[in-house]
Amino acid sequence: MIAESVLILDSHFAENNNGQDIIEGLSKTPKTLPAKYFYDNLGSELFEQICQLSEYYPTRTETAILTQYADEIAQITGVCELVELGSGSSTKTLILLDSYQKKSRNCQYFPVDISSGMLSSAVSKLKLQYPGFLIQGLSGSYDQALNYLQSHHQQKRLIFFLGSSLGNFNELETEIFLGQISETLNPGDYFLLGIDLQKSPAILEAAYNDAQGVTAAFNLNMLSHINQRFRANFNPDLFTHRAIYNQSKGQIEMYLISQENQHVSLKDLDLEIDLKKNESILSEISRKYKLLDIQNQLLNKKIQTLKIWSDSQQWFGLILGQRF
Ligand SMILES: C[S@@+](CC[C@H](N)C(=O)[O-])C[C@H]1O[C@@H](n2cnc3c(N)ncnc32)[C@H](O)[C@@H]1O
Repeated sequence: MIAESVLILDSHFAENNNGQDIIEGLSKTPKTLPAKYFYDNLGSELFEQICQLSEYYPTRTETAILTQYADEIAQITGVCELVELGSGSSTKTLILLDSYQKKSRNCQYFPVDISSGMLSSAVSKLKLQYPGFLIQGLSGSYDQALNYLQSHHQQKRLIFFLGSSLGNFNELETEIFLGQISETLNPGDYFLLGIDLQKSPAILEAAYNDAQGVTAAFNLNMLSHINQRFRANFNPDLFTHRAIYNQSKGQIEMYLISQENQHVSLKDLDLEIDLKKNESILSEISRKYKLLDIQNQLLNKKIQTLKIWSDSQQWFGLILGQRF
């Protein structure tokens, strides 16, 4: 059941979510699937487990940076309407909400997520934990939420996007997404961005190929999700997980590799595909950044970097920008 304080955006802010993106991706050579299809209820649970893995350094590193600097962030921005894109379980968010609660007991927080079950349970817990806050979940895609928020701008706003989720966008998608962020902010508003930085391939590849196989299960679950959502008949047992660091592109690439020649039907999408043995489907990219590059990209979208925080190894960066 969806919590009362979750607004379902689908019907109001329709986007291309009828599977056209799957048709396009599977008709390309090489084949791709959009990373957003990782996140049904099980996918969200598996992502939570990934965050606890010893190999998966991003969550604990970003959490440590937030713990150290959340008060400073709240001090710089002052009380704001808080919007979180891809909020998931909102676990890390508690650190920021605690800092804003010291400034005002009546803050507004809008978590946005495509995984409605996870969003709904996060909102129910947060409402108990922060009874004075106005908490309104927005269930839908980033596109839908940003459209909605552009027409509902009441006060100074901080949009935050953590977990290096920006890294799942290719160059063109990043350009479009940062443009949408800029349009959803008024001059003087803030954007807080958590990004994973470039580092040794061995550390990066270990993070996406954990020994327990949780990332593999997360990757394969995308096929079960698509089966259920679009009446498809992928057999996840006939695929394996692979993640490699593409150094020339500065990105982790996660693939589903077909273990034999096979035919798959996606009934609701009127799509039939053939896969050859060892053929790969690219299911996710996770780009790793240089701080200067991302600062320049933000600047091109009228977002000026105010401050950057990092850990002692410079593995992860947290950038606070302001729209001008
Ligand atoms: C990598 S997880 C990050 C979760 C959390 N922000 C963190 O830092 O741990 C990405 C989150 O974004 C959500 N998500 C992925 N694609 C999305 C999209 N296109 N629109 C809205 N939410 C999306 C997923 O459901 C998931 O909760």
